[in-house]
Amino acid sequence: MIDVINDGNPAREIDVGTRQELPGRLPVLPLRETVPFPDTLTPLAIGQERSIQLVNDALAGDRMIAMVASREPDVEEPGSEQLYDVGVVGVIARMMRVPDGTLRLLVQGAQRVHVDSWVQDRPYLVAEISEQPDVVEESPELTALMRSVQQTFSQIVEAVPYLPEELQIAVANVDEPNALSHLISGSLRLPTEQKQQLLEETNVAKRLRRLTELLARELEVISIGSEIQSQVQNEMDRTQREFVLRQQLKAIQEELGEFDESAAEAKELREQLAAIELPEDARKQVDRELGRLENLPPAAAEHGVIRTYLEWIASLPWDKATADNLDLDHAAQVLDEDHYGLEQVKERILEFLAVRKLNPQARGSILSFVGPPGVGKTSLGKSIARALEREFERISAGGVRDEAEIRGHRRTYIGAMPGTIIRALRDAGSNNPLFMIDEIDKMGSDFRGDPASAMLEVLDPEQNENFRDHYLDLPFDLSSVMFITTANTLDTVPGPLRDRMETIEIAGYTADEKLQIAKRYLLPRQAERNGLKRGQLRITDAALRAVIADYTREAGVRELEREIGAIARKVAREIAGGGTPKGSIGEARARELLGRQRYHSEAKRRTRLPGVATGLAWTPVGGDVLFIEAQAFDGEGNLQITGQLGEVMKESAAAALSYVRGHLPELAPGLPSDWFKTHDIHIHVPAGAIPKDGPSAGITMATALVSLLSGRHVRDQVAMTGEMTLTGQVLPIGGLKDKALAAQRNGITTIIAPELNEPDIEEIPEHLRNRLDFRFVGQIDEVLDVALEPVDGPAPKRRPSSKGAEPSEDRVYAQHAEKKAT
Ligand SMILES: Nc1ncnc2c1ncn2[C@@H]1O[C@H](COP(=O)(O)OP(=O)(O)OP(=O)(O)O)[C@@H](O)[C@H]1O
Ligand SMILES: [Mg+2]
Repeated sequence: MIDVINDGNPAREIDVGTRQELPGRLPVLPLRETVPFPDTLTPLAIGQERSIQLVNDALAGDRMIAMVASREPDVEEPGSEQLYDVGVVGVIARMMRVPDGTLRLLVQGAQRVHVDSWVQDRPYLVAEISEQPDVVEESPELTALMRSVQQTFSQIVEAVPYLPEELQIAVANVDEPNALSHLISGSLRLPTEQKQQLLEETNVAKRLRRLTELLARELEVISIGSEIQSQVQNEMDRTQREFVLRQQLKAIQEELGEFDESAAEAKELREQLAAIELPEDARKQVDRELGRLENLPPAAAEHGVIRTYLEWIASLPWDKATADNLDLDHAAQVLDEDHYGLEQVKERILEFLAVRKLNPQARGSILSFVGPPGVGKTSLGKSIARALEREFERISAGGVRDEAEIRGHRRTYIGAMPGTIIRALRDAGSNNPLFMIDEIDKMGSDFRGDPASAMLEVLDPEQNENFRDHYLDLPFDLSSVMFITTANTLDTVPGPLRDRMETIEIAGYTADEKLQIAKRYLLPRQAERNGLKRGQLRITDAALRAVIADYTREAGVRELEREIGAIARKVAREIAGGGTPKGSIGEARARELLGRQRYHSEAKRRTRLPGVATGLAWTPVGGDVLFIEAQAFDGEGNLQITGQLGEVMKESAAAALSYVRGHLPELAPGLPSDWFKTHDIHIHVPAGAIPKDGPSAGITMATALVSLLSGRHVRDQVAMTGEMTLTGQVLPIGGLKDKALAAQRNGITTIIAPELNEPDIEEIPEHLRNRLDFRFVGQIDEVLDVALEPVDGPAPKRRPSSKGAEPSEDRVYAQHAEKKAT
């Protein structure tokens, strides 16, 4: 067989000068998969018998052979018919025998020849040949082609590894266009057929043109290849660079002893989160964020954001719940332990718990405690949590104007955090705590959104299964949370919220109840808080009553607890200073410790003059007394009303005046019948800064007017409440219990109320009912009978006593009226 070894360097030892005279007949060495070119060196490996003989014979002679390529690369020993017609004549320049019996040759190519006819086949091929010289036509185009080919080829040599660099120099140094074309043709990797075509082309210009094309295509292939290559390279470089930098950073951190805190943190978070049973979408989110965290350098701003976010998720009680204690006896016991009285309230609470026990799945209503401050709403909530053995968290809705406070800010905000609900859940540590939402009536709303609708989403059993905090951006199931809300009044609670609440009203305490609460709960608690032993803080009942009456004025017991705390601190100071406790603290000692009496009975002072009547009002902080003042001047029958009254209250003032006007002769017999034509009336309700409204002051206004006109004083121990019609009928009102408690606080003993409210008396604790004188009335005359002193009553003692004081206008008028009346 004939093998060709092309070592890829045919440029060596080019010596065109060795060209010899061409004989007409030459042995032909067939070449497989290689095409010889004139003027180039071709290395060959010879193994076939016939070829070795050919070489040996040639070496014995002038060493000249013809080399012709085979067109059938697969035929091992091609015959003459399988060879091309054009080949190259060459001289064997070097020969080496390899131990395996084969030969290595280096053949210096000379001129191109054409095989004219075959002379013999054996032992090797011999043919008649004739030279086929190149046609070179000098032209500027030829020069340009040469340059272009040289330049392109040089670029190719630079780009590909299979062409040695020396070729660049060799090519640059060839000035003959045909030599250049052969050199390049021989060097390129081209299919045999294409190479043979180049060899057979006798026109040099054409061959160079063809080469330009081939070279351009080759260059393109190379550049596309290298582009791909460089893209791959770039990508690799970047990751490589990052990797190297990371490694260096790691090394530096290790050196500084700060390494891998963040990686360790990420790992810890991953473990922590893996241990939590998360809902599906939360798990997806967590995995995504963990992936991001692990791939971010700790210095990146986002790193901290993601870590905080994941820490939040890890801190929430997704799968932690406490077991409920639904033992009702236990609950009753806990409620009694923590609170005195409140029998009806406790009963309602136990009913509520009973329903929950029987139907745990029922998504019922939300308990809502409504009542004045300090009556134990929050502390009842705590007791319920204790009874159920649930975690307790208090959330204040008061003053919340921004829904983000409830629902949090989106993570894109700087310093974003979850809202109060999610924060409270984290603090609770279980997903079924008791949440007490305080002051639900004091939630505001403004441009930042409506917190009430966010709150509704929290409380509504239909919606809260999928409560979505903006920060978490994941649903959290709130349906196991037990909600209790508190409010001072339901008036300002948005309707949809109110609809979902089961309201339990807690009015204030009577003085007796306060005394019991003080003795049983507040005193022991304050003693303990101030480091006193049981026996060291003892206060007599009389002293406590004095504190309740003269040092506090409240529906609840918060001020009372504060005053007891003040006494306890003073006692603690004495004992710590080496003194010994002086037995029980009596009334005098209590007054001494607490200083000047803080509250006086207003009613006595205010009703010293005719024209002032004491009313009872309901307010969000419990009931209160309300004084209505009437005044008259010279004028022409106008009515002025002041004291920030609402429309309803103004109208009831006008109605009262009309009634009085219509009945002037009976009500104030001493006045001329045209009195109103010459006088203006002014009705004022202090405290002027507090807005007031409602119809229940009707009878009080009428009483004040009649008192003014008749000069009869309003009895100082009487207070009243009731709406009045133009015909003098008394209509029912609300909040009788609160009003009765307020009356007691203010030293009132007689209450005038509409007869239609008589059933409400049931709600009033019996001991208070017994102490107060209730007068239920149907007509205004009955009111006046009870409220006003008789005409010849003991008026003089109520005259202003300070001598020489200028009597003010009202006094002047009152005296005048009195004179008239007598
Ligand atoms: N019936 C009671 N028995 C014992 N202690 C009571 C009773 N009522 C209230 N207290 C005590 O009075 C204090 C005030 O009660 P709490 O804070 O629950 O009032 P609140 O109704 O929530 O008031 P606010 O509307 O101002 O929030 C607490 O220390 C509470 O324990
Ligand atoms: Mg409270």
